[in-house]
Order: sequence, then C-alpha cells, then structure tokens
Amino acid sequence: MIVAIMAPRSGKTSTLAIPAILAAPGPVLLTSNKAANDAFTATVDARAEVGTIWALDPQQIAHHPREMWWDILADARDLAGAKRLAGHFAAASVDESNGTDFWSTAASNTLGALFLAAASHRRPITDVSAWLASPADRTPVDLLTEAGHEAVAAQLQGTVSGATETRDGIFETARQYASCLLDPEVVAWVTPSPDLPEFKPARFATSRDTLYLLSKDGGGSASAIIAAAADAVMRAAVIVAERSGGRLDPPALCVLDEAANVCRISDLPDLYSHLGSRGVIPMTILQSYRQGQRCWGDAGMDALWSAATIKIVGSGVDDADFADRISRQGGDHEVQTTSVSMSEGGKSTTVSMRTERILPPDVIRALPKGKALLLATGIRVAMLDLKPWYKERSAKVIGATSVRATRAITERAQAKTRDDFGQAA
Ligand SMILES: Nc1ncnc2c1ncn2[C@@H]1O[C@H](COP(=O)(O)OP(=O)(O)O)[C@@H](O)[C@H]1O
Ligand SMILES: [Mg+2]
Repeated sequence: MIVAIMAPRSGKTSTLAIPAILAAPGPVLLTSNKAANDAFTATVDARAEVGTIWALDPQQIAHHPREMWWDILADARDLAGAKRLAGHFAAASVDESNGTDFWSTAASNTLGALFLAAASHRRPITDVSAWLASPADRTPVDLLTEAGHEAVAAQLQGTVSGATETRDGIFETARQYASCLLDPEVVAWVTPSPDLPEFKPARFATSRDTLYLLSKDGGGSASAIIAAAADAVMRAAVIVAERSGGRLDPPALCVLDEAANVCRISDLPDLYSHLGSRGVIPMTILQSYRQGQRCWGDAGMDALWSAATIKIVGSGVDDADFADRISRQGGDHEVQTTSVSMSEGGKSTTVSMRTERILPPDVIRALPKGKALLLATGIRVAMLDLKPWYKERSAKVIGATSVRATRAITERAQAKTRDDFGQAA
C-alpha cells in the first residue's frame, strides 16, 4: 500500500504511475487530470494488449469517445452506499475543514437521501437533479417511504418542510455539490445506455482490464464521479477477494494519481486498512503532505500515512514540519569530530562523538529531482534513484505509442471542433 508525495513536475507520473502500470500483472485503475503526454497515452496501447480498455472521460480530457457506461447508483441502493456517494460529491467541492459545518452536512444528507430515493427505484440520476431544482416536489419522500426507508423519508420531509431560508440554503449547497450532473454529456457516462457495454466493478476485479478515470480538478468538475468510480472498484475488489480465498490473484493496481485533485475519496484512509492483504494495491500520489491534510484533515492524512506500508517522499518538500518528521524517522548516527588545540604543552587532539540526524530536514527539503526517500515497514529509510519510463530500455516503443496516442487526442479534439463549427454553420 503506497502513498507518494512529490512536488509538481518532479516525476510522480513518469517514475511511479507509468512504470507501475506497465508492470502490473492484473487489472489496473488510473485516475488522472491529464491525458496527453501522461500516464494515459504512455500506457493505453500496452494495456490494450492484455485486456479491455475502459475510459470514463466525462469531461473529455482525452476526447475519448463514450464507449461504456457505469451505473453510478448501483452501490447507492442502501443507505450507507447512498451516503458515501453524496460524500464524494461534497468532498469534490469543499475541503475537509469546511465539510463538517451545518450547510455541508445537511446538503450531503439531503443529497444522500435523493440518491437513495432514485437508486432504490432504479430511477436515473437525472431525477436527482430535477428534485434538487424543485425542493417542494414530494416524489423523493414518497419513493423513500415506498422503498421502506421511512426514517430517511421523514428526515427529508423535515428538511423540505422546514423554514424556507434554511431549506433553500441546504438545497442550494446540494445543487452546487451535484452541479456536474446538470451536464448531459457528463451524465451520459453514468446512466444506462443499452447499446453500450456496462462497466462492472466486480467483473473488472478478476480481469486484466484497465480503467482510465479522467476529470478536471476542483468544484463543479466531474471529479466526484471519478472518486465514486474508484471507490466502487476498490470496494468491489475487496468483496471479490474475500469471496475467492482472501486475495486477488493477480492483484489489482489502483493508481490514484493527483488523488487530492480528482479522487477525493473521503474515507480513503479507512479504505486503506481494508485493502491490506486483499491483493488490491493502492498507490495514492499527492503533491504535498499539506494537500493531503486539506483533503482528509490532519487526522485523516495521518491515518493514511500510517496505513501506507510504502511511503515515498520525493523532491520539492516545502513543509518544515513534514521535513522534520521524515528527518526524525531517518534516525540519528554518531559522528566523530576531532578538535585540535594548541597550548604551551604543545598540540593536543581530542576526539569526541556527536549525535546527528542522518538526514537533516534541510537535506530532505533540498532533495534533487530524480531522488526519493523510501520509508517502508521493517527497513531503515532508504534513498532511491527514481527510474522514469523514458529512460528504460522500452522507452523507444512506449515513447512512440505515447506520441501516437497524444496525436490521436489532438485529432479527436480537432474533429469535434470541426463538427461544432459545421453544425453552427
Ligand atoms: N517523455 C519524456 N521525455 C523526457 N522527459 C520527460 C518525459 N516525460 C516527462 N519528462 C520530464 O519529467 C518531468 C516530470 O514529469 P511528470 O512525471 O509528469 O511529473 P509529475 O507527475 O510529478 O507532475 C517533467 O518535467 C519532464 O521534464
Ligand atoms: Mg503527474
């Protein structure tokens, strides 16, 4: 279980994500906010040789045609699943520190109730957007009651019939969280499309397929959908593993590149503890420890960091506390110092021992690009030379396919612009 922290442009994707994907023997999931000249283009051809390529690209990062759909409401048919889905939408919009105030909590609960109402009657997720637009609509309350969720129905009824300002505030917050669902192009990827193959997380777990989850960053983006899909895949993989003797063989690799930007699974720290020994290998890639703290809170990031059995710290650590913490974990060593003093009796030499940090914090902060510290369970801190894919022997082939795949993205983008232009004219 891996957590890696490195500054932007320091080789996270080229030295960690891409080599791991190219070496993976089983299914692979990748989240990313980039496609051209990045992990998607560098790995898509190689992965197409071992299994099916599934690309969930609701915001057209790779301009990938919609050739699949995934049922975002499949896991929302029980209250816990519906709440988790609502949590992904909230987490994609607000940092952990703001995620616990009244409006966020109430909006997240309301969104959860609406997801449950839709999912338990196999209604499409577009119904949720419609209900968010008209809070007075009684349909979701009735649907929840019919499905036997009386308590949730009563809670939603309470919100709907409460003070108007409060209700409107809650619904407005919920609308912000779910704003990406207003875009029909986005929603099409996560609603049933009878003529397209359905992506099934449980089947994926035992395949050698690859799932590319691509989204832009930030609130209003489709990153909640990306987080929900990654969460669904990892949870399904654990269930499949438990049913088939304890662990997946070959293991599933889940590379959460740019995790704090596009894959804010709020209970990722907790999920890490479930993934252990199940043959599901998560690799969470962050730009800084602070970025993780903003996303999961101090306690959450601490839990994620502790749960990771392999921690990688690369160049660009710009956080004195974090550098000091790593420095302490690196331990001390005895340094021999010799001092010479002159006196009337002549020259005297004293040898003394002094305890010093093996890796002082300033050395960690000045770590050059291409180097990283490895903190793995059971060994002392090690200094690594990172090996980017483009310096490997296979670089010629992969470089060429990456260029080709990048060109294909550009061509798809241009074709679309031409279509739009054609339609306008
Ligand atoms: N195909 C390549 N050939 C040469 N250098 C590359 C190639 N791809 C990336 N790099 C170099 O590697 C650096 C890190 O890239 P990347 O792994 O994408 O960083 P990160 O994911 O940490 O933002 C880039 O600044 C670039 O100089
Ligand atoms: Mg990257």
